[in-house]
Amino acid sequence: MSRRQGITILGASGSIGQSTLDVVRRHPDRYRVVALTAHRQIERLVADCLEFSPLLAVLGDAGSAAEANRLLREQGSKTEVLHGEAALVAAATLPEADMVMAAIVGAAGLAPTLAAAESGRRILLANKEVLVMAGELFMRAVRAHGAVLLPVDSEHNAIFQALPADFSRGLTAAGVQRILLTASGGPFRNASLADLQSVTPAQACAHPNWSMGRKISVDSATMMNKGLEVIEACWLFDAPPELIQVVVHPQSVVHSAVQYSDGSVLAQLGNPDMRTPIAYAMAWPERIAAGVEALDLFRIGRLDFQAPDFERFRCLQLAYDAIAAGGTAPAILNAANEVAVAAFLAERLPFLGIARLNEAVLGAMPALPESSLGEVVDADAAARRLAEQLVAEAAFA
Ligand SMILES: NC(=O)c1ccc[n+]([C@@H]2O[C@H](COP(=O)([O-])OP(=O)(O)OC[C@H]3O[C@@H](n4cnc5c(N)ncnc54)[C@H](OP(=O)(O)O)[C@@H]3O)[C@@H](O)[C@H]2O)c1
Repeated sequence: MSRRQGITILGASGSIGQSTLDVVRRHPDRYRVVALTAHRQIERLVADCLEFSPLLAVLGDAGSAAEANRLLREQGSKTEVLHGEAALVAAATLPEADMVMAAIVGAAGLAPTLAAAESGRRILLANKEVLVMAGELFMRAVRAHGAVLLPVDSEHNAIFQALPADFSRGLTAAGVQRILLTASGGPFRNASLADLQSVTPAQACAHPNWSMGRKISVDSATMMNKGLEVIEACWLFDAPPELIQVVVHPQSVVHSAVQYSDGSVLAQLGNPDMRTPIAYAMAWPERIAAGVEALDLFRIGRLDFQAPDFERFRCLQLAYDAIAAGGTAPAILNAANEVAVAAFLAERLPFLGIARLNEAVLGAMPALPESSLGEVVDADAAARRLAEQLVAEAAFA
């Protein structure tokens, strides 16, 4: 390789961000970090800046940025520190950034990831909310500006690996019959509806197979995460929702699969460690070491599969409803869910209240055409206001 590839990591202090830095650390000859962003974790960001010497670091507010700046100057660091949304966009579009890892959680990642698409970068997409909220706009920007979009979510990364390279000419033309999107079923796969009444945040965040941030852990426990992934898959692979079948697979070894018209099923398997899809997206079309232990099929012994229960896991059905409604409906569902999960983590909403709140907000707001970012942002804000009002009124307590 002639020169090292520059990488910006949006959401560097998070679970995906830290796994990305771990892969970078293993390949100093291939990659150099050009920008790192965090929201509040000043010390984590400062430590990573001292190790990787990026050109730019971004924090959420002026006070955090000033503190990080002081700590970095004390150590003789030359990293510039900025704050706020414009600075996130600057990090995502630095001329030195050949690739951008989009790993902010939630709607906050939309503007910088869209900016990366508009400047034609290679985007490693973990921040699924970008596609959930503004799939049509984002995919249009990717196509118009020749950006390269590589999915990092393990399931979509697996599907990408199992699809033919020219899948964009159309899934049916490529002989694809179904996309089999696997789901671990989360920590409450076998819990009854009665058991689910009293679930605590600590129980919901204890995922059986994956170690993840708190928001996505709760989404995994409600299966909203799988619902968001169905929406994400529709946009990434230009697939109608009925082509995507969710398959509960408790071992999380088969990360997803593609069924073809000749009866073949191609799957990607691996240990549940996000460094595998991260390394795949970073090096594509090559493969590099990710620091992940080799898969031992003898130790695994068996693989189980079952159909999802749309009644106990109502959020999954809501995602299919939202993508069918189209327009801003997925953005509305995503916004309601962010409020619901935050309220649940703050013990202001019971676990089953998450789906009830999401359903109420989705049902109360019209799905408008997704013609501009402004409309998406407005729908997101209105859904949040309604969801917050319902939480404050203890409507689903
Ligand atoms: N973790 C996984 O295994 C996994 C797998 C597949 C997909 N994903 C997706 O990847 C994304 C990141 O997940 P994660 O688990 O890494 O989340 P996480 O551990 O919670 O990290 C989130 C990152 O986003 C930053 N952030 C939070 N709010 C922000 C805001 N308002 N503005 C700017 N930055 C903000 C955080 O900064 P601070 O740390 O300073 O708060 C942190 O760097 C999510 O969209 C998730 O669905 C995650």
